[in-house]
Amino acid sequence: MTLIITGSPRKGKYSDRIAEAYHEISGGELIYARDVNALPCKGCGYCRGKGEGRCIQKDDMQPIIEKVRKADTIVLVSPIYWWQVTGTIKNVIDRLYALDVDGFRGKKLVVIMNGGSEPDDKEYELLEGQFREMADYIGMGYSFLGVGTPEGQEEEFQRKLEGVRELARKNG
Ligand SMILES: Cc1cc2nc3c(=O)[nH]c(=O)nc-3n(C[C@H](O)[C@H](O)[C@H](O)COP(=O)(O)O)c2cc1C
Repeated sequence: MTLIITGSPRKGKYSDRIAEAYHEISGGELIYARDVNALPCKGCGYCRGKGEGRCIQKDDMQPIIEKVRKADTIVLVSPIYWWQVTGTIKNVIDRLYALDVDGFRGKKLVVIMNGGSEPDDKEYELLEGQFREMADYIGMGYSFLGVGTPEGQEEEFQRKLEGVRELARKNG
């Protein structure tokens, strides 16, 4: 099963459209991180100790942690905010600490980053490398796609969505 998490605070904008194009091909489930009440990770370690995979915080995250545990492919779609993912999706990612490294091994990670700059910008190379290293570390397969989304280029964006669908056909 494919689980897609999209991280823009803006409803119906580029990241949502990218995630929805991917989802049309892959099936599975699409989660909008902005709709998830995900408190920041406290770093207390409860989930990896006494909690045995359960977070001590009571919000929307436990069911999502369980969905990630069951998924074969995890797709993260995020706008670039200051050369990083958004805080909206980062809160969700941090809380997946509850799965520990073993909870990810053998799964596939697909990362799609969209920024105002085109993908020849250095930031995409850094993001691609950073997620690749992390995926290697936790034993996940890995694919990355950078999508430049300068405002006002709808026709060009439509063409880029074809690249997203192609990625979904390859990775599921
Ligand atoms: C706070 C903030 C920081 C941003 N930082 C970057 C950046 O570092 N690099 C970049 O290419 N675009 C940056 N952008 C532009 C967004 O990544 C771009 O508009 C993106 O397509 C928005 O995605 P959305 O339509 O899904 O919300 C930033 C936008 C905001 C609001």
